[in-house]
Amino acid sequence: MKNLTIAIDGPAGSGKSTISKKIARELNINYIDTGAMYRALTLKILKNNINISDKIELHRILQDTSIDFRDNHIFLDGEKVDEEIRDNQISTSVSDVAKIKEVREKLVEIQRNIASNKSVIMDGRDIGSFVLSDASHKFYITASIEERSNRRYKELKEKGYNEELDEIIKEIRERDRIDSTREHSPLVKCKDAIEIDTTNKTIDEVVSEILDIINRGGK
Ligand code: C5P
Repeated sequence: MKNLTIAIDGPAGSGKSTISKKIARELNINYIDTGAMYRALTLKILKNNINISDKIELHRILQDTSIDFRDNHIFLDGEKVDEEIRDNQISTSVSDVAKIKEVREKLVEIQRNIASNKSVIMDGRDIGSFVLSDASHKFYITASIEERSNRRYKELKEKGYNEELDEIIKEIRERDRIDSTREHSPLVKCKDAIEIDTTNKTIDEVVSEILDIINRGGK
């Protein structure tokens, strides 16, 4: 049977990863969080004080780094970094790393390799438009900036962080701006993606909406 490939794109905090994880479980397929890969590389760059505008230094770090997504965990040079990559400092720096062509080339190659011989649901910004442009199903998940920021605020509060809502709104807005205006593979809603606005919907409602579409054989 042909492998199932599901592309989920959308702006920061739209609920993509929670939704994708649930769908992966329902369909018993692999979930690949490509944002976690860009975050892991950013972690390495910050830890090693790499100057990303120095092409030689950047090239060296890209050659020297292994990033892998396995069993819902992100590995940087063989070490699990699930928690560290969620740090606020990573969130505010990741889009400047992700806009670099050489960075995208390296991570896209890894992503396509992972998806080459199995059924996957992959979430990110350029999955339907570029990474898996011939995916069997494409979705664009969005929500208002207020809703996305509020969700992030609550999530951080539950984890014990005391981030100001205004700061979160600013960070998400800036990340969306960089991600959607960059030169290489910007965040776009591609023509053949189904758009779902999750502003007034629960996660479970969105999950069943997507599963219905997939089970009906829709794009
Ligand atoms: O999905 P998440 O919000 O964790 O992604 C973090 C950042 O990684 C995004 O803001 C974007 O800059 C970058 N990213 C990307 N392409 C992807 C996934 C994420 O440029 N496919």
